[in-house]
Amino acid sequence: MTKNGKLSAWVEEVRQLCSPERVHWCDGSREEYDLLCSEMVRAGTFVKLNEAKRPNSYLCLSDPSDVARTEDRTFICCKNKDDAGTTNNWRDPDEMKEMLRGLFRGCMRGRTLYVIPFSMGPIGSEIAHIGVELTDSPYVVCNMRIMTRMGRAVLDALGQGEFVPCLHSVGAPLAPGQKDVPWPCNAGNKSIVHFPEERAIWSFGSGYGGNALLGKKCFALRIASVMARDQGWLAEHMLILGLTPPGGKKVYVAAAFPSACVKTNLAMMNPALPGWKVECVGDDIAWMKFGPDGRLYAINPEYGFFGVAPGTSMQSNPNAMLSLGANSIFTNVAMTPDRDVWWEGMTEKAPPRLTSWLREEWSPGCGKKAAHPNARFTAPAGQCPVIDPDWENPRGVPISAIMFGGRRPSTVPLVFEAFNWRHGTFLGSIQSSETTAAAAGAVGMVRRDPMAMLPFCGYNMGDYFAHWLRMGRAAKAGHQPAIYYVNWFRKSAEGEWLWPGYGDNVRVLKWIVGRLAGTAGAVDTPIGRVPAPGALDVSGLNIGRAEMDELLKVDADAWLAEVKGIAEHYGKIGERVPREMHDELAAMERRLRAR
Ligand code: OXD
Ligand code: MN
Repeated sequence: MTKNGKLSAWVEEVRQLCSPERVHWCDGSREEYDLLCSEMVRAGTFVKLNEAKRPNSYLCLSDPSDVARTEDRTFICCKNKDDAGTTNNWRDPDEMKEMLRGLFRGCMRGRTLYVIPFSMGPIGSEIAHIGVELTDSPYVVCNMRIMTRMGRAVLDALGQGEFVPCLHSVGAPLAPGQKDVPWPCNAGNKSIVHFPEERAIWSFGSGYGGNALLGKKCFALRIASVMARDQGWLAEHMLILGLTPPGGKKVYVAAAFPSACVKTNLAMMNPALPGWKVECVGDDIAWMKFGPDGRLYAINPEYGFFGVAPGTSMQSNPNAMLSLGANSIFTNVAMTPDRDVWWEGMTEKAPPRLTSWLREEWSPGCGKKAAHPNARFTAPAGQCPVIDPDWENPRGVPISAIMFGGRRPSTVPLVFEAFNWRHGTFLGSIQSSETTAAAAGAVGMVRRDPMAMLPFCGYNMGDYFAHWLRMGRAAKAGHQPAIYYVNWFRKSAEGEWLWPGYGDNVRVLKWIVGRLAGTAGAVDTPIGRVPAPGALDVSGLNIGRAEMDELLKVDADAWLAEVKGIAEHYGKIGERVPREMHDELAAMERRLRAR
């Protein structure tokens, strides 16, 4: 219970609206977690995994209709449609509230309403903020305990202060005596709704990931991006890593990549260059504020990793594998006969027999996936072997460089540096990934995903670019982080990857560190500064001069075609794209034509 009047009134209002059987205030204790897990085992929601192999860990299989974030059912409801912009689904807030009240009326009948006070960021940090999630899903409670700091300590820290109200229901009330299903949800009525002016979230019908764990995408990105705009800070879809050169000083880098660009791998990689060390502060979200010294300080608002399991292995990401060795929840992966987990890519050879995520018997070659492609692990960040010693520092870590990137088989060099913050903002605004042969009929199509925030920016994308420009002006002279654009995915004319990726990406980070220190060479091109010949350390790699030229090539014709695509992209965002972005585009075009 709480002395916070606003909180107790809201809980009472929701109790009356949703009619749960009981209300439980989460204390965040291990006992509470264990009890909820054992209740879910009894209900068939969780399977307890083999204690000897994966201590204190559970498998959960969702309803096959509820497996991912539903962007077409995600809404931004501000008064003025233009404030949401063309990249968001907008609805009138009053009409949406009315509709939601109808959906939520009686929706928790027969269930428990859990009250989850949670802190995004270390409790008490100046950069952190508090939310309270009300949910009827014990699965959400257990995942929130891994993904956020939650429970009594947060209520104590909240006092009479402000919090973001986050209301969630699986939307499946139980009639008296009705038996529950392992994964209740409401497939036909999913609505993930944000009220940025009120700073409130209402989520109905889905129990999965970002739709239901409301601290993550809904609060820490969509609502927080609006708070950041109003209060003068940055809420970004970025990993944060610490990089220490041999015998040198550590620098921190934040990096934004669209989904499916192996962000988690970069955040905790084992560097291929001897003596270099990468430490992880966060793998998905960064909240950044300028400190009194004029530097940009970042925290990871989360407390765990909610990572995509397929493709994660001891080869691709050993530190993620070691993070999920215990105390973890696995959703929609396959199970081995001895009750351990498996997913595509985890081992070279699949086990001969499994139970698939669809609860079916599975064997290699049966033609189906054993794990759903969006199967997830929820693992405590503190278990990562390379977690940064300062990852819980309430002051945050000082950011020296920001990276944007995407998956582009052609056109975009391995790495280039922005001329300045404004040009860097431009580079973020044109961030893109190219679809590959995996997407039928759409090979080579460029999808723009500005700052990797397309599904996560809670307001007009044009205003968001303007906010970035404002933030650059707010930095103390000489303290703006340098901005880089990277592309690990460039291919040769023959379709071969030109860059080894994984641990070798540290070579690009090494060049960035050299640039920050003023020791690494660069040459100007119309799009930015690329490494000077010999400036990128490729020692020990089988990369010849011709391949290096190809990796760093800036093809004027390809980039002039890009200019057209960027103009269309800005056109779609609309009138609020700042003049400075159009000016940057025109300047780049002029430089390309002058070549
Ligand atoms: C995520 C995403 O789940 O970006 O992190 O989709
Ligand atoms: Mn993400």
